[in-house]
Amino acid sequence: VLASVTCSAPVNIAVIKYWGKRDEKLILPLNSSLSGTLHQDDLKTTTTIVASESFTEDALWLNGKKEDINAVRYQNVLNAIRSRATKLTDKKHFVHIASINNFPTAAGLASSASGYCCLVFTLAQLYGVDGDISAIARMGSGSACRSMFGGFVKWEMGQKEDGSDSVAIQVQPEQHWPEMNIIVLVVNDKKKETSSTDGMQKSAATSVMMKERCAVTVPQRMKDIEEAIKNKDFETFGDITMKDSDDFHEVCATTTPPIYYLNDTSRYIINLINRYNKASGSIKCAYTFDAGPNACVYLPKDNVVEVLSLFLKHFPGQDISTYYRGPKENIAAIE
Ligand code: DP6
Repeated sequence: VLASVTCSAPVNIAVIKYWGKRDEKLILPLNSSLSGTLHQDDLKTTTTIVASESFTEDALWLNGKKEDINAVRYQNVLNAIRSRATKLTDKKHFVHIASINNFPTAAGLASSASGYCCLVFTLAQLYGVDGDISAIARMGSGSACRSMFGGFVKWEMGQKEDGSDSVAIQVQPEQHWPEMNIIVLVVNDKKKETSSTDGMQKSAATSVMMKERCAVTVPQRMKDIEEAIKNKDFETFGDITMKDSDDFHEVCATTTPPIYYLNDTSRYIINLINRYNKASGSIKCAYTFDAGPNACVYLPKDNVVEVLSLFLKHFPGQDISTYYRGPKENIAAIE
């Protein structure tokens, strides 16, 4: 064995959604997006990579199952890292990669984000790659670039054709708003019917809402939510978060043929939260849904007990999982 590294990377939950690409190969988005990174110990991917002169090929296992390392996204990140390597350059070798998630894969819980982020980060440690590596993670899965940092992170869409300015930037570190928590309501952990990759391609091609969303709505929301995060203004943060989630699912519904990621339970949660906020006279918690039926609920710590008891009352006896984000380093090199 020449070298061995283990790292883990957390999931991120977008509040301004990335949906649509302007370049499918480099994974360049049609709009900027913004997310919160979860606590390292809650929802994460852990990856070990071993480099050896005795391996006869590169190989990758995801949750114990061998994957096709020749898949284009794996090859793109491997080649990008190796072209910038400062270590292991003088030895002919291959790598074996083993990656595990501590949560259900492909459940709309952004496992590809922590997965590709972790893969690229671990490879970068192994090969001694410095500088921005979020653009490499982006080539694995767009949303993965945002998991490179903790706290609140934006992915600037960028303008350049080579994608060099389409990178993740930390908007606020994890220490800035430690009172912010996230509850994940696992409505369904089965694999989704339409992958994000397919869904966004179809929406970009057919939804009449896309143009306005990318040109007007998202640029304004990016500015407003960054300001709200800076001021720890939950009222504005929650309002924008829910609007962007609603709009994203409306974009999906206006795609031909329509894509529906939410189910009856998701819609029940949306109504429940809207009624609860209205009755409270202020926004106490904010839902957001990715390409699946599971709800991610952002809320200040002070409201957690009340909101959890609301969910328990409405889903009695059901196993509703909860995860909280805390102020902690997001990526760790374990060895
Ligand atoms: C709805 O990053 O999974 O979660 O770039 O094709 O791999 P690819 O797509 P992916 O899309 C995530 C879409 C989303 C919104 C978001 O996370 O911003």
